[in-house]
Amino acid sequence: MSILRGMNVLVTGGAGYIGSHTVIELLNAKHDAIMIDNFSNSDPEVMFRIAKITGQKPKIYDGDVQDKTLLNKIFQENRIDAVIHLAGLKSVGESVKEPLAYYRNNIDCTLSLLEVLKENSVRQLIFSSSATVYGQPEALPLTETSRVGIGITNPYGRTKYMIEEILNDLLVSDPEWAIISLRYFNPIGAHESGLIGENPKDIPNNLLPYISQVAVGKLDKLKVFGNDYDTPDGTGVRDYIHVVDLAKGHVAALEQFKASDKVDVFNLGTGKGSSVMDVIQAYEKACGKTIPYEVVGRRPGDIASYYADVSKATAELNWQAQKTLEEACADSWRWQSKNPDGYAK
Ligand code: NAD
Ligand code: UFG
Repeated sequence: MSILRGMNVLVTGGAGYIGSHTVIELLNAKHDAIMIDNFSNSDPEVMFRIAKITGQKPKIYDGDVQDKTLLNKIFQENRIDAVIHLAGLKSVGESVKEPLAYYRNNIDCTLSLLEVLKENSVRQLIFSSSATVYGQPEALPLTETSRVGIGITNPYGRTKYMIEEILNDLLVSDPEWAIISLRYFNPIGAHESGLIGENPKDIPNNLLPYISQVAVGKLDKLKVFGNDYDTPDGTGVRDYIHVVDLAKGHVAALEQFKASDKVDVFNLGTGKGSSVMDVIQAYEKACGKTIPYEVVGRRPGDIASYYADVSKATAELNWQAQKTLEEACADSWRWQSKNPDGYAK
């Protein structure tokens, strides 16, 4: 569906890593963003940074997406055309330790949101899914029709799979809905201004924030989880996508809603796999330092290799990732070196 005017978009989890970059790209594309976030994994300072980058200060509601009263208030106070639903807990390891918190938060947020959308006759939704729904890949690259749901190793990943199933059931019941599920591969990097970026509250679980904290001197050395995989250099291979490219993918999707009795799924990746060693080398180049590392055993639940087939997004969304791994590492380093403690000043 082509649009003639900017849309008013509610962004749940808008203060988070991907949400903040997405809000900026929405504003750049002349859409309006209204945000809701409970700051459970983000910092209100991000609002000032968004204003500094864009010259606009989007409205934010400080609260929980599970709170239907608050959601209804947002719909009463604003004309919302569509929702981008990013709010959720995302730590794989934590989800293994606290499965109930993950199922409660991620599923409940989605159900509350869908009920309120229905009550307010807003039926356009983009959902933040993950390549994790593919579980153990049968073949690479992963296409949107690759098998899902088998071999997902943790509760976090299962919430993404279950939510996609819920969304499909909803569409079967009412094809007036237009729902897009974006399956992100591995988002990395930061806004080129160095003003916003990934801001883990604890010791990072993911590769890029870990490396960047080693580079800035907050952590001693990287542990490389296994170098005996069946990959070119033995380390795990992933499809790392710059977060600004990912954010632009949301804008492209927003402009392509179509009613259907199935969720319209898109892989958002680069189509290229990079190993842990490739990432270390790219980061060393970006920061001009050596990244100390040691190879340790495999991390339980890790998959050797996966990367996306992005031809569907290219053809139907007219979208493609533009930025390289090297650019993502340079932007990550700019953010990390200018903000060694994240948003905490
Ligand atoms: P993030 O933690 O930085 O952002 C999520 C935001 O949601 C945070 O600001 C948090 O405070 C908020 N939130 C969580 N529960 C909430 C609730 N009940 N009510 C209101 N706000 C709530 O994470 P991110 O990396 O920006 O991820 C955004 C989305 O993308 C998540 O759904 C995540 O699962 C998904 N995703 C992320 C990755 C990744 O590697 N970063 C990969 C695939 C999918
Ligand atoms: N790795 C290390 N050392 C570390 C961290 C990671 O060697 O300290 C390796 C991993 O073994 C893997 C690669 O770096 O080979 C990437 O690991 P990440 O933890 O950065 O990312 P994952 O691919 O494991 O998972 C991420 C998110 C998931 C999401 C998935 C797909 O954490 O939530 O990408 O989008 F589902």
